[in-house]
Amino acid sequence: MLRTTTLFAVGLAGCLWTHAATAADPTYARSLAATCFTCHGTEGRSVDSVPPSLAGQNRDYLLKQMQEFRDGKRPATIMHQHAKGYTDEQLALIAGYFAAVTPGRAAAAPAVR
Ligand code: HEC
Repeated sequence: MLRTTTLFAVGLAGCLWTHAATAADPTYARSLAATCFTCHGTEGRSVDSVPPSLAGQNRDYLLKQMQEFRDGKRPATIMHQHAKGYTDEQLALIAGYFAAVTPGRAAAAPAVR
């Protein structure tokens, strides 16, 4: 019994540690944000602003838009699907990530040889 309790305590501590580590881990925020690069451009700098650039955008604005897409409050062609399944904490990490990126033009694609 003692052994089971000890194992449980160690397991629980492990989970708490993992959670704390991911929430504070900048690579976790980037890995969440990277799923948006396909459409919104690398680091959120979109090509010709279609779809809109996220880089350097206001954090609170980004968070609110994502929550509204997720909750079906803002009509969308595709974003309501991409915002689904994220917690408010994850959306805040994504919004914080893009808000911290310096806005700019998308880098030119490498030349095809
Ligand atoms: C498949 C392409 C695609 C992906 C992937 C994608 N988006 Fe979008 N995003 C769009 C399009 C298109 C719009 C315009 C709204 C619409 O029609 O859905 C948009 C609009 C937005 C807007 C509103 C911008 C504004 O100026 O109001 C935000 C914020 C946004 N996306 C954030 C994200 C985030 C964060 C992710 C990653 C979790 C993401 N998007 C992934 C295509 C995409």
